[in-house]
Amino acid sequence: MIKFVDVMSEEDLPIGKSAIVSAGNDEIALFNYKGKYYAINNKCLHNGSSLGEGRIEEGVLICPNHEWRFDLVSGQCPQNPEMKAKIFPVKVGKGRIKIGFGKEIDKNASKGKAPSKAPSSLKFTIPTIQKPINPDEDW
Ligand code: FES
Repeated sequence: MIKFVDVMSEEDLPIGKSAIVSAGNDEIALFNYKGKYYAINNKCLHNGSSLGEGRIEEGVLICPNHEWRFDLVSGQCPQNPEMKAKIFPVKVGKGRIKIGFGKEIDKNASKGKAPSKAPSSLKFTIPTIQKPINPDEDW
């Protein structure tokens, strides 16, 4: 069963922004891409860089370090099809963004391990709001 945890206000994550949210042992990059929210494990599968600091092109998240790419919806890495970043379900209600824990979205993920249940500590750190890489870019 998926447990959705309230992480932040929609107001705090406008289009084109990202946040990094810590939940238990997980660090999750949360994006508002063209008005929809996407949550993906923050740690790049290549060498651990923060994907929340990456940029998005045509629905593909690009790691800021060596530019590995991850599909925002599936987590699939085109450079290495055997790799998929862990993604988390997101829903919105009453102006709040909620991330779901408790069920692997991708059971074939070759790296990383989805939490089997909601994190024991549901205390989220205050999200880090990232500045847009290019303020003129409307993602
Ligand atoms: S750490 Fe992400 S591409 Fe190298």
